[in-house]
Amino acid sequence: MFPELLKIIEGGLKNDHQKVRNYSIKLAKYLDENGEKIVSRKVSQLIEKNTTRTAQLDSLTAKPFDNETRVETVDVSIPTETGEELFFNDFTEQEVNEFLQSYAKRDLLLRRGIETNNRLLLYGKPGTGKTSLARFISLQTGLPLVTARLDGIVSSLLGSTAKNIRKVFEYASKQPCILFLDEFDVLAKIRDDQHELGELKRVVNSLIQNIDSFAPESILIAATNHPQLLDSAVWRRFDMKLELEVPEDNVREKLINYFSKIMDNDFSDNQKKVHQVVVSTKGLSPDAIKTIFNTAAKNCLLQGKDTLLYSQLILELFIYLTPIDFSEEKASKFMIDNLVPQSEVSNRLSLSMRKVRSIYKEVKYNGQ
Ligand SMILES: Nc1ncnc2c1ncn2[C@@H]1O[C@H](COP(=O)(O)OP(=O)(O)OP(=O)(O)O)[C@@H](O)[C@H]1O
Ligand SMILES: [Mg+2]
Repeated sequence: MFPELLKIIEGGLKNDHQKVRNYSIKLAKYLDENGEKIVSRKVSQLIEKNTTRTAQLDSLTAKPFDNETRVETVDVSIPTETGEELFFNDFTEQEVNEFLQSYAKRDLLLRRGIETNNRLLLYGKPGTGKTSLARFISLQTGLPLVTARLDGIVSSLLGSTAKNIRKVFEYASKQPCILFLDEFDVLAKIRDDQHELGELKRVVNSLIQNIDSFAPESILIAATNHPQLLDSAVWRRFDMKLELEVPEDNVREKLINYFSKIMDNDFSDNQKKVHQVVVSTKGLSPDAIKTIFNTAAKNCLLQGKDTLLYSQLILELFIYLTPIDFSEEKASKFMIDNLVPQSEVSNRLSLSMRKVRSIYKEVKYNGQ
C-alpha cells in the first residue's frame, strides 16, 4: 500500500492540483527506488505533460492569513547549514536520534502497519534549544520548516482562531514539511483573554481534529515553556514529549569549549579554570551561557583587547547571576572565588590592590 496514493486521491477529490502533483512526484520516486521503473516513468511523464506554469510555482508560496488583520499566519524557511552546533543531555540526544530514525524508516514501518512517530512536543525553560532543535530537525530531514505564527492565528473574531488553525494545517498538508507550532501555549491563553469558554473548546477541537489527520510524511513539532497550560487531550496527541532540560556538567563543558572559540582566549588550556566555569554555570541554559560569552568577548574587544580574558568572563557571569544589587565588593569576592588572580580583579574593577587584598583576606577568613 502506498501512502502517497491516498494523498493523491484526497487532492483529486478536493481539486487540489498542487497536492496531486507533489505526491505524484513522491510516488514516482518511490516506484523508481523499488524497481518499478516502467510505472514510475509513466507517472513522471503524466506529471510533466500536465504541468502548467502555475503548478511549477512552489506550493508553499500562497500563505494563509488572518481575515481580520490580513497578517500571514505562517513563515516558511528552507533549511540551510548554519554551522551552529547544538549540545543536549545524553537522553535528549538519544530521543532526538530515535525520532529522526523512525521518520527516516517511516515507509518501512507503515508498510508493516506500524504507526510512525511524527508528532513531537518540546518543552522546557527559555533558551534550552526548542526553536533551534526544530530547525535542526528540518535540516536533518531536508523538509521545509513551516512555522505557525500563533500570535497571528489567535484572532479576536469569534470562531476565527479555529478557522486559522485549520487553514495552517491545510497549507502544511500540500507537501511534506515540518509544521512547527512554536510557543504553543499561546493557544491555551485564550482561556483567560476576552474569549469565552466556547471559543477555547472550538480551538482545542480544531487542533485535535487537525493533529489526528496530520500526514505521516510530514512532521509536527510543538514547543512550549508552559506545558502545564496545555489541554490534556492535546498533550496526549503527541507521540513523543521531550523535555529540554538545562545542560548537565558534561554538556556545559562542551558548550563552554564551543563558545570559547569565539576568539582567542587566556583560559582554554587551563583545565582548572574551564572546570570552574562549568561549576559556576550550573543551572544556566545554553542561551544564557552563550550570552555571557558573547558579552564578555564584546567588552574585551571594546577595551581594545583581542583576547577573551578569563577575568572578564567571570565578571560577566557575576553580572548575569546578580542582575540587581551590583557591588564591587560582591563582584570581587565572586571573582576571587572563581580563580581570578587578585591583580586581574583590581584591573577589571578598577579597585586598588589594597582593597582587593583586604577582600581576599576576608574570603579566606570566612572558611575557604
Ligand atoms: N542545546 C543547545 N546547544 C547549543 N546552543 C544552544 C542550545 N540551546 C540554545 N542554544 C543557543 O541559544 C539560542 C536560543 O535558543 P532557542 O531560541 O532555540 O531556545 P528556546 O528553547 O526556543 O527558547 P524560548 O523558550 O525562549 O523560545 C540559540 O540560537 C542557540 O544559539
Ligand atoms: Mg523558542
